Amino acid sequence: MMHPPKPQPKAAIRSLLSYRPSFGEAKQGRLIRLSANEGALGASPHVQKALQTNGMAPHRYPEVQDQHLNAAIAERYGLDSSRILSSNGSDELISLITMAYLEPGDEVVMSQYAFLVIPQATRIAGGTVVKADDVNMVTSVDNLLAAVNDKTKIVFLVNPNNPTGTMISLDEVRRLHSNLPTHVLLVLDWAYAEYLDKSFSDEAARMVESADNVVMTRTFSKLHGLAGFRLGWAYCSPELLTTLASIRGPFSVNQVAFRAGIAAVQDREFQKKSVAHNDKWISAMSLFLAQLGLEVVPSSTNFILFRFDPQTGPSAQQASDVFATQNILLRTMEPYGLRDYLRMSIGTDEEMAFVKEAFLRLMQPAQSR
Ligand SMILES: Cc1ncc(COP(=O)(O)O)c(C=O)c1O
Repeated sequence: MMHPPKPQPKAAIRSLLSYRPSFGEAKQGRLIRLSANEGALGASPHVQKALQTNGMAPHRYPEVQDQHLNAAIAERYGLDSSRILSSNGSDELISLITMAYLEPGDEVVMSQYAFLVIPQATRIAGGTVVKADDVNMVTSVDNLLAAVNDKTKIVFLVNPNNPTGTMISLDEVRRLHSNLPTHVLLVLDWAYAEYLDKSFSDEAARMVESADNVVMTRTFSKLHGLAGFRLGWAYCSPELLTTLASIRGPFSVNQVAFRAGIAAVQDREFQKKSVAHNDKWISAMSLFLAQLGLEVVPSSTNFILFRFDPQTGPSAQQASDVFATQNILLRTMEPYGLRDYLRMSIGTDEEMAFVKEAFLRLMQPAQSR
């Protein structure tokens, strides 16, 4: 029997590689979730308090932009609050930017392993993805610049990048910007900036303030531990801000996120503690994994990417499966074409100790062969 034709999504979307991250579920008991690069220590205790005392009004729409949040961000990072646009996570900013600036067929240049949401959003918006090869898993400015042509509308620089964890220097970022035509938008995805020295984001902010074609995107999902509330922000020119604000859903950031964001960004003690915890475990875990014979990519983030050699030991998939049976979730990397790699976020002290034991059980039989 003939079926009547069904509604069809547009072609660019039908061909998409689906990015629907599966973070997994506990087989039994507690899950050690190291698959989503969330903050290891959760959120500041001030966040809970703010949510209890700040008089939420669930029946009221939230502010379109909460000036208290923008002022708190500006105060914390030494920025101009009139250039800040909050969003439903920084993922939303990536969508808004591609939606606002791409005509069908316009090219978007990004690094080989750029955060997957970026090529997805580009295609959904009707743009064409152009990838520039990394050099040893590090973004190559030469290769990005070589990929820029008359059709290029946006260059995305994710620095440090997810999932590689590697970064390029501020000199290289400036070199990239100074060699781009002024009509090409440079997006600095600084999702992991809070883990780095403040000069790193200060410099990006100065670039935004001195050029109309630079935007920095930030998130509360990593160091600030608010991934579940969905809060991000852009720092950009007034023109860009007006453009993005005009297509953003007016209430895409809710009251809870606004209140939590203010409490989180003001709690410098908690931020300091979280950075110290991350520094300690990035070093310790990188060394530990290397000693087990895994190839570790140097990380400037809150996660580590490492490679298994299936010729001499378990494959990445086998390791991931074995860990899942022990309630430990790591991230497989097929969507990036990195089949031999796993990505692991830093967790609590207790979680890291448990995971180390699991690695020893997994890898030692292979080492003694
Ligand atoms: C590089 C990068 N950009 C953006 C995001 C999205 O963060 P958000 O939770 O703010 O949407 C992530 C999250 O993993 C990321 O790694």
